[in-house]
Amino acid sequence: MRICKYGERILRKKARPVDYAADKGRLPGIISDMFETMRAAGGVGLSACQVGLDMRLSVISIANENEPELSLALINPEIVSAEGSQEGEEGCLSFPGLYQRVRRYDKVAVRALNERGLPVEIRAGGFLSRALQHELDHLDGRLFIDRLPFLLRLKFRPRLIILKRKWAAGGK
Ligand code: NI
Repeated sequence: MRICKYGERILRKKARPVDYAADKGRLPGIISDMFETMRAAGGVGLSACQVGLDMRLSVISIANENEPELSLALINPEIVSAEGSQEGEEGCLSFPGLYQRVRRYDKVAVRALNERGLPVEIRAGGFLSRALQHELDHLDGRLFIDRLPFLLRLKFRPRLIILKRKWAAGGK
């Protein structure tokens, strides 16, 4: 799958809910292609809009040194509660090479359907919580640069315009 870069219109669209019963047949293929695309690009999360699909679907895969890899496929995910705040560095596969410190909720609870269509609730803190918030933002057409403080966003604008041109021309 080709990863859409900043500047492509689909990244700004609010994605459509997945009709699990209707899409059941093609979801496993889409989900495994998304995991593969994400891993090949060295990411920890990827949402369907980033590979050109108008669906509320995200995948996340986080590996910790001492724990087995945690992989999640989330269909129609929603944040049901959020608390606290944390700040940390974030990147996005649609902004290759760009990292910024972003403020997020510290903890979130997310409800979704898993890849088998079963309802799940995930309670997360730390980095997983950040990854969940980043991916769920994608489903509403929101990007991590939108979460920067206003003045930083202004300062950043000229650089983003240059990067946007470079990515549109196929650069990395
Ligand atoms: Ni992203």
